[in-house]
Amino acid sequence: MEKRSKMALCVICAIPALVFAEPGQERQQVILEAQQPVMTRLRDADSVRPPSPEGHPVAAMYNREAIIPPQCYTRTEGQNNPCYVCHQDSLPGRENVMNDRDLQEAYSFSDLGQTNHWVNLFRDRSKEVEAISDREILDWVDDDNYSDLAPRLKNAGFKGWIPDLADLQAGAAAFDEQGFARDGSQWVSFNYKPFPSTFWPTNGSTDDVMIRLPLDYRTDAAGKPSRAVYQANLAILEARIKGFDAIGTVPLDESEVGVDLDGDGRLGTIDEIARVDSYVGAAAGHFIDTHLYPRGTEFLHTVRYLGFDDSGKIGVSRRIKEVRYMKKWQAYNKGTLARYYEEEGFEKEAGFLPGYTRLGDWGLDNGSGWSIQGFIENRSGQLRVATLEENTFCMGCHSSIGSTIDKTFSFARKIDGAAGWGYIDLQGMADSPTLGESEGEYLTYFRRTGGGDEFRSNTEMLQRFFNDSGEVEPERLAGLDVYQIVVPSRERALQLNKAYRVIVDEQSYLLGRDATWHPPRNVYDEVSNTDSPTLEEGRVFDWDIRLDWRPEAARIVPGSKTVTSVSPNAH
Ligand code: HEC
Ligand code: HEC
Repeated sequence: MEKRSKMALCVICAIPALVFAEPGQERQQVILEAQQPVMTRLRDADSVRPPSPEGHPVAAMYNREAIIPPQCYTRTEGQNNPCYVCHQDSLPGRENVMNDRDLQEAYSFSDLGQTNHWVNLFRDRSKEVEAISDREILDWVDDDNYSDLAPRLKNAGFKGWIPDLADLQAGAAAFDEQGFARDGSQWVSFNYKPFPSTFWPTNGSTDDVMIRLPLDYRTDAAGKPSRAVYQANLAILEARIKGFDAIGTVPLDESEVGVDLDGDGRLGTIDEIARVDSYVGAAAGHFIDTHLYPRGTEFLHTVRYLGFDDSGKIGVSRRIKEVRYMKKWQAYNKGTLARYYEEEGFEKEAGFLPGYTRLGDWGLDNGSGWSIQGFIENRSGQLRVATLEENTFCMGCHSSIGSTIDKTFSFARKIDGAAGWGYIDLQGMADSPTLGESEGEYLTYFRRTGGGDEFRSNTEMLQRFFNDSGEVEPERLAGLDVYQIVVPSRERALQLNKAYRVIVDEQSYLLGRDATWHPPRNVYDEVSNTDSPTLEEGRVFDWDIRLDWRPEAARIVPGSKTVTSVSPNAH
């Protein structure tokens, strides 16, 4: 309401300018000016904790709907659907009963949500980007800004999770070949297929994910730490999260675990676990169910620039854009979680804006057992704790969309079994289909979205994989691995890095973090729940976040037929 009256006011005082301005430009200028003090405070600060806003922290937020990500404002023209990877109905057995597939079909934003608050998307920053030289950006992305985060947090008396994985800035070198952190911190990295679009390097960032289970899951029945027990429990968890009855594993000696895991009647060395209905070692007997992590599970996610190794190959940069962390504190059962979704629905219906319990240095509580906390670069590139508003951005994707499994993405998308333990490596990774589909997941995404990013504005992807009439050419993907599909040219990589560098300098994350330098074409500034065209029937899709990693599935030659409807595939 308040925003609307401000807008009206400005329209009155700026009528001459409006004649030339693109629609919405006035509003964006007003917002930019209004938020300037917040950004200036952040620009001036170099402490590891950000300055607190003046007055009530929630009331001081610019965007109370920060949980709605930019993707939702895609101009679909009734045809192009990038929505299906997030907004989905429940699949049998899932803990996730959000059932928000209908958001693909009908806009139902709150009054506030109808306005796209991510105004950074509409700004032309090509001048600022041009002013940065290649040398400068190459040096910038190659700096280590991770190693001093932990000591700075400790000095500040920080009481939440303090990064405890040594040399993470080095990426793969921090882990052994089975994914275990070399520093003994018990973090384990795994190799997963990046979520469509947002986490493709060609759209701005590289990333990695690590998991850590609590002590009981790493300890044998006699109370001794055991890597074999830990690996068995990780494999059992993988099977449970994916809803599988059996799963491959790195070679394990069953006698170290004390359980016949492959069910062949003797204790030997195995590479397949067929008994996944209980954890082993000191965690034997702990609560277990499909699609749920145990209490105490931690995830660590770093989002990075596009880095270049000596041979010019693109991978994670040493500099980290964001350190992201989640911990599961409460292991609710599916019944309780279903209640949570119901309550969330009531609150939304009653017109409440989203709100999350603040856990101090642990970040925000997503309402279903997890704490979520982010760390992001300050103006000079040191990592700092995220503000309340910056953290609120995390909450929608990790609490109230239908496609996730126990509020997470990547673990369900890990390469099955032994091959999926180890630091992320897109080279050699197949564009495997999601479960229930027959064509590669990314090819399918291109078909449904009509582009190589949700806004159909990644021109390099359009040139590489689409013809002049905007249709994907499947044969152009034939034989390509994930690296070859979603890693950009060196030139684009440098541009993306520079574009994000400008946002860091501005400290304007609250206006959007997308590495764009000129406004993407297909984004709404305002959506109308009643008037904006929605996706047509036949352009709305089912989707399962899990992948079909069987080699024969990945080898399927791309055909011409799009599979539009999938029967829920429960193992
Ligand atoms: C990367 C995941 C993602 C994608 C892709 C995505 N959304 Fe969303 N969407 C969210 C999240 C997170 C929220 C906020 C949480 C919620 O309300 O469900 C949201 C909220 C919404 C809302 C508001 C719902 C409410 O309850 O207030 C609408 C409407 C919406 N999205 C429509 C779309 C449409 C249409 C598309 C495709 C053009 C789309 N979204 C693509 C994640 C996504
Ligand atoms: C637009 C949706 C979206 C938003 C907003 C978002 N995430 Fe995520 N998050 C993802 C996706 C998708 C992945 C998987 C990464 C991949 O596939 O490359 C992920 C992965 C993670 C993981 C690893 C566990 C998992 O779910 O795979 C953590 C931890 C995490 N995010 C924390 C955060 C934090 C902290 C924030 C806020 C700073 C945040 N996320 C904001 C979508 C989102």
